[in-house]
Amino acid sequence: MHHLGFAVIDLDEAVATYERLFGATLEHREVVPDQGVEAASVLLGTSRVELLAPTGDDTPVGRFLAKRGPGMHHVAYEVPDVGAALAGLERAGAELIDHAPRRGLFGLEVAFVHPDAVHGVLTEVVCPV
Ligand code: CO
Repeated sequence: MHHLGFAVIDLDEAVATYERLFGATLEHREVVPDQGVEAASVLLGTSRVELLAPTGDDTPVGRFLAKRGPGMHHVAYEVPDVGAALAGLERAGAELIDHAPRRGLFGLEVAFVHPDAVHGVLTEVVCPV
């Protein structure tokens, strides 16, 4: 597993919570205007959590928060090759959100699999570049 993604309302507050409660350290932080998200990656020992705050209400994470509230957003599995992983998923009949690898947060190569294909869990495959 590469990381878990959590939707949060206030990124500063969320990062501070993970630092205070779990001794997490900030790995990356960036605003991605075209994805409507401000994100932070925090490390807790060998685990990684991606905290996602919306830059506005009419963004994917903004709509997620309005519908579901803060909490678990997605899981990301590390794969050696995102394109090959997508080809395998497609052959297996999985419904995909991304049909080609794209640039995700923090410069990672990623693609998303539809939650309907994975029993309700939005799933990301990721290759650290
Ligand atoms: Co992610």
